[in-house]
Amino acid sequence: MKILSIETSCDETGVSVLQGDKNSITILGNTLASQIEIHAKYGGVFPAMAKRAHKEKIVPLFREALTRAQLLQEGIIEIAEELKNEIVALCNHEEGLAEQIISLVEKHIIPDIDAIAVTAGPGLEPALWVGINTAIAFGKLWNKPVYPINHMEGHVISAVFEQQSDTQFLLHEFQYPALALLVSGGHTELVLIEEPLSYKKIGVTKDDAAGEAFDKVARVLGLPYPGGPKISSLAKEAREENLVPEFTLPRPMIHSGDYNFSYSGLKTAVLYLVRDLQKNDPYILENQTMIKMIAREFEEAAIEVLVKKVQDAVSEFHIQTLIVGGGVAANMYLREQINEKIKDRFGINVLFPIRELSTDNSIMIGMALYYQLLHKNKKPADTIRANGNLSLQ
Ligand code: KG4
Ligand code: ZN
Repeated sequence: MKILSIETSCDETGVSVLQGDKNSITILGNTLASQIEIHAKYGGVFPAMAKRAHKEKIVPLFREALTRAQLLQEGIIEIAEELKNEIVALCNHEEGLAEQIISLVEKHIIPDIDAIAVTAGPGLEPALWVGINTAIAFGKLWNKPVYPINHMEGHVISAVFEQQSDTQFLLHEFQYPALALLVSGGHTELVLIEEPLSYKKIGVTKDDAAGEAFDKVARVLGLPYPGGPKISSLAKEAREENLVPEFTLPRPMIHSGDYNFSYSGLKTAVLYLVRDLQKNDPYILENQTMIKMIAREFEEAAIEVLVKKVQDAVSEFHIQTLIVGGGVAANMYLREQINEKIKDRFGINVLFPIRELSTDNSIMIGMALYYQLLHKNKKPADTIRANGNLSLQ
């Protein structure tokens, strides 16, 4: 079956076409437009700006993804006036979107796809609505079923399909109970998975997410948004150059005895550290050696807590498989630490998504729908609402 999938929950607009066949998925066409340049100027994501960028990009990406999949053929379709009005009313909060959708549909024959998958949450609601309304509009115009997908389930499932070649992925059969460590810009969660599609959250962050802490610390250090990749490359240089920090940062909640996290105090500790250092040297942030040492100590503190809680959960719940997902899963130090302190030490299976699928993308949304359809008789939705706080359970 062919699935067209859409992701617009935060600052990446993605549309892709996947073909599922038994345990295998082939990517027929993939697109991704990043808003990093827009948000970098302000040091973070503003929902109204994200919404506008999604609205400008989504229909061109639809066209591009379907063209790459060789599923878009020119032709003429008559759309009843009543249906056009319905689409215009549906997209009335996204000025200009209905017109773009109608124009694409009128000029092409209906593509050979079986389903549309769209992120319904969690995320920024104005941004989510752009994807949802676009999905519903194309679903109505082409008479295709539309399925809402939880973005976090996308992050889980992106690790469950193992890459075989550039475009081919194979379902990795794994043992239960499994544990998912989901670490992104908006979430830090430990989720127990005792059987396919059953998710039980055992711990969450009380305040900032791990990725958010990377982004905020980057801002304190005068580094560009998003902070994760930059901090991680500076920390790597510090380790390679043997730069050992002369200070320590806290490992928040490491001994709390539960599976919750807290990252806002760690960010504040970096802020105070920088202020203290500035008392002796006002130009401390221009000192590359110092920046690398702070990046190293911060990264190691943030990741030590993640690894410790995962170790505890692996022991307590007799975990057989660890699944890691979300933007911070792209972090190489996290991957090394997990391989050394969990995979090797506990001898369990560890699944990571390929790095391109760690950060937000639409392939994982299509994969999540295909995985659900493989495991249960999921029904398409008549109506879909954006839910910024949509939870996995
Ligand atoms: O999953 P994602 O793309 O978006 C959300 O759903 O939030 O995650 C983005 C987050 C950002 O906070 C970014 O700084 C972080 O993932 N990130 C990283 C790395 N690459 C991205 N954090 C640490 N190390 C990285 N290499
Ligand atoms: Zn995400």
